[in-house]
Amino acid sequence: MSAISFQSVSKSYPSPRGPAGATFLALDGVQLDIEEGEFFGLLGPNGAGKTTMISILAGLTRATSGRVTVLGSDVQTDYAVARRKLGVVPQELVFDPFFNVREALRFQSGYFGIKNNDAWIDELLDSLGLADKAGANMRQLSGGMKRRMLVAQALVHKPPVIVLDEPTAGVDVELRQTLWHFVSKLNKQGHTVLLTTHYLEEAEALCGRIAMLKTGRIVALDRTSALLKAASGNVLRFKTEGVLPPALAARARVTGTVVQLPAHNALEIEQYLAAVRESGLVVEDVEMRKADLEDVFIDIMNRHSPSQLEERFSAGPPQAETAPPGGSAVRAATNVGATSA
Ligand SMILES: Nc1ncnc2c1ncn2[C@@H]1O[C@H](COP(=O)(O)OP(=O)(O)OP(=O)(O)O)[C@@H](O)[C@H]1O
Ligand SMILES: [Mg+2]
Repeated sequence: MSAISFQSVSKSYPSPRGPAGATFLALDGVQLDIEEGEFFGLLGPNGAGKTTMISILAGLTRATSGRVTVLGSDVQTDYAVARRKLGVVPQELVFDPFFNVREALRFQSGYFGIKNNDAWIDELLDSLGLADKAGANMRQLSGGMKRRMLVAQALVHKPPVIVLDEPTAGVDVELRQTLWHFVSKLNKQGHTVLLTTHYLEEAEALCGRIAMLKTGRIVALDRTSALLKAASGNVLRFKTEGVLPPALAARARVTGTVVQLPAHNALEIEQYLAAVRESGLVVEDVEMRKADLEDVFIDIMNRHSPSQLEERFSAGPPQAETAPPGGSAVRAATNVGATSA
């Protein structure tokens, strides 16, 4: 049985643009099965639809069409059972300012009908470095501590399926390590983990399989090792203050003065270096490194540029015809998916 199953899931939101009744397609026929015991990564740029998928999974939002199940339980028709099997760490910091840390966790246990949960609550507080804050009011916690608390709250009922929506955003290095150690331990004990993150090195290190989402569609789905193998192999990296010749500029990833070029073989590296020499470009700190998940991610995202995707906005009901000229169907603008915070 799949731990998590998305079956042809689409989600439209009312469109912020276009005529009344127009919709925006945030998820477009997402098909994804995550098996029990997997450590699965869901990656994608801002606005790709990751949180929308998780909101549907957690029963916070309804899919427009399709079906989602958690360990066989439908998240809509069997909400209470599905919800019990899930522990969700939300992307947004939400907390009740009237409780202290331990009270909040006891309250959350009660919500799931669990009494006398203090032994597990203590283990959670210890494992997440919150033991000395057990009596602190939620308002007295720092941002990173509040995020730890969200993790503790999600795990209070020992859910078999754990969903983490960017759990390490704004979290210091030490806690990241503590958190990954703890979540990996739970995964080894058999808990399924679904993680979204923008820290691709974390995904590369932790996730056995990865799906990449772009503008509401899955554009890559494979084992992490297979995604890395399919990548260019190596990357030539150097620094320059100069202007790249067009042949290189077309293929390069440039961050400030750092230039990175994907290289499949030795001949390609030679060609790059020859182009650099011929152009008289002054370069420093030349090095080769192995392609990583970030290179794979950028490559895949560029291949599926928005122009290749169909429009995500659809016009509203028939009265939309009375909308101003040109307003009946708002086309997806370049990188329309990147509009959310
Ligand atoms: N409640 C809503 N109403 C209308 N549009 C929404 C709503 N929630 C999300 N969207 C839109 O749906 C798209 C997907 O948003 P979502 O939050 O799922 O992205 P994400 O992949 O989680 O991005 P991020 O990496 O920024 O967290 C975005 O274009 C967003 O603006
Ligand atoms: Mg999100």
